[in-house]
Amino acid sequence: MASYPFATPSASRGPRAAPLTSEPGIWQELTSNQQLHTQGDRVSDDYRASHCAPGYGAHYRKTHESGYYAALWEKIEIPLILGVLRPMGGAGRNCLDFACGTGRITNVAASVFGEVVGADISKSMLGSAQVPPNVRLRHVDMTIEPLGETFDVVTAFRFFLNAEDRLKRDALKAINAHLKDGGRLVCNVHMNATSPIGLVCRLLNRLFGRTIRNTLGAARFSELLTASGFIVEEMIPYGYLPRPGNLVPGVCEALMEPFEKASRTLHVPGQLAQHFLVIAKKR
Ligand SMILES: C[S@@+](CC[C@H](N)C(=O)[O-])C[C@H]1O[C@@H](n2cnc3c(N)ncnc32)[C@H](O)[C@@H]1O
Repeated sequence: MASYPFATPSASRGPRAAPLTSEPGIWQELTSNQQLHTQGDRVSDDYRASHCAPGYGAHYRKTHESGYYAALWEKIEIPLILGVLRPMGGAGRNCLDFACGTGRITNVAASVFGEVVGADISKSMLGSAQVPPNVRLRHVDMTIEPLGETFDVVTAFRFFLNAEDRLKRDALKAINAHLKDGGRLVCNVHMNATSPIGLVCRLLNRLFGRTIRNTLGAARFSELLTASGFIVEEMIPYGYLPRPGNLVPGVCEALMEPFEKASRTLHVPGQLAQHFLVIAKKR
């Protein structure tokens, strides 16, 4: 895998584990779907408030129930995350899921760690979370109010892309402070700046003269992590199938896995993957 630009042992290993069974949903009708679509995973001036609207948690869960995001989650992300977390886990080890939202990653972590804490600033997101007994959910902004405990591993998914730069730095500082010595941060970036859709987003941002969609590249994120007291150990690109908006959800589901396998077999450069997972050690 030496010619693979994001080459890592894990990327070549292509961890595969049985997906978790689908989470039971508590769906609520949305009052203003349009309004909700303009928040959360899009550009936001105040990311702390972006997922706090009533009903947003239910909307977020629904987004991951079908189409591209569901296929990515079930076929690619769950096996990948399990493959990364399992060797770090164990009955006597604990994990914090920072910005846990509706508990997607929290639940995966709960299957491999003895104890898990999920922390989020949004009551709406936490209200949609269903977690097993070894999980404690905390409604807190850890960048302001420390939890008073430390962890072997901290996970943080779908957070750094859209958080403002100041919040990115504050979150990394808080995460670092909540890690035990030598502990690890496992996180992701869900719009790689060098992927095809990432390039389109950057082009649109330039054409419109403002940020329509955020992108974040591996080099920039590495710099941030290093400046925040981490040593980047691995970057694992994934999600090679570009997301065609909300179109053809069935096609995405069918193509996701073969496309991923073919991309790995053909050693498609990691820069072209839409997402990447990062493992970073507390310095
Ligand atoms: C896109 S969601 C990701 C949720 C979950 N990690 C996942 O992958 O499904 C981003 C989350 O970050 C949370 N958030 C934003 N600022 C935060 C902060 N300062 N502390 C804790 N959570 C925060 C939001 O409330 C939201 O639930």
